[in-house]
Amino acid sequence: MQALPLRLYQNEDMIEAKKIYKNYGDLSVLKGVDFIVNKKEIVTIIGKSGAGKSTFLHILGTLDFPDKGEIWYEGEKIDFSKEKNLSDLRNQKIGFVFQFHHLLNEFTALENVCIPAMIAGNMSDENMKRKAKEYLYYLGLKDRISHKPTQLSGGEAQRVAIARAMINQPKVILADEPTGNLDKTNSEEMHRLFIKMRDDFDQSFIIVTHNLELASLSDRTVKMEDGNIID
Ligand SMILES: Nc1ncnc2c1ncn2[C@@H]1O[C@H](COP(=O)(O)OP(=O)(O)OP(=O)(O)O)[C@@H](O)[C@H]1O
Ligand SMILES: [Mg+2]
Repeated sequence: MQALPLRLYQNEDMIEAKKIYKNYGDLSVLKGVDFIVNKKEIVTIIGKSGAGKSTFLHILGTLDFPDKGEIWYEGEKIDFSKEKNLSDLRNQKIGFVFQFHHLLNEFTALENVCIPAMIAGNMSDENMKRKAKEYLYYLGLKDRISHKPTQLSGGEAQRVAIARAMINQPKVILADEPTGNLDKTNSEEMHRLFIKMRDDFDQSFIIVTHNLELASLSDRTVKMEDGNIID
């Protein structure tokens, strides 16, 4: 008799991906990826260029949809057909950090950080600004809140992007090569920050990186290869 392919939701599961498939035309990028991330866990995903890491991260973050397979957040299955539910999920539970900070140049650091809270629309202006300042201070940017992105260093701009990812107090931070554009010193500082944030805010992190030092600091590293994830 075959073993049941069933695994019940466990309280500590933050995200679970079940048999995720994704093709781009003839190219089969993800071939049935299974993956679980616990609450308060930092997992790094490594793998060759083109292995499908970003594709998988985007699907985990519901920025893209799988051809087949399921994504579950805290025991609830994501319905990819309901865009409103997806945007609510992204606003409430997920923070995104990318290789490039994608801050809006015409706004100050403080205003950039407030944007996701404005979109979520459940905080007063005053509250939003107070929260944004808290995170900017936490990230060592007290003297930079009124600066525009062009007036910030690469490391500072990336920390503003992290504050922006934090403003709605997400349970998960998805980061795609967050140190890809930083020098060694700034990268190391970012590594320490991620660990501190996990401890201070009880967040889970899924970080795609080519930086093996960052990988070595995480709780777990998995590799994406041949369309699958191997531990
Ligand atoms: N929108 C798309 N349309 C067609 N092909 C795509 C698309 N997005 C990604 N691909 C292809 O899918 C494969 C996986 O891409 P992906 O960006 O996920 O790789 P990656 O592991 O993140 O690589 P890198 O380390 O270079 O960032 C690549 O061969 C890429 O060219
Ligand atoms: Mg990528």
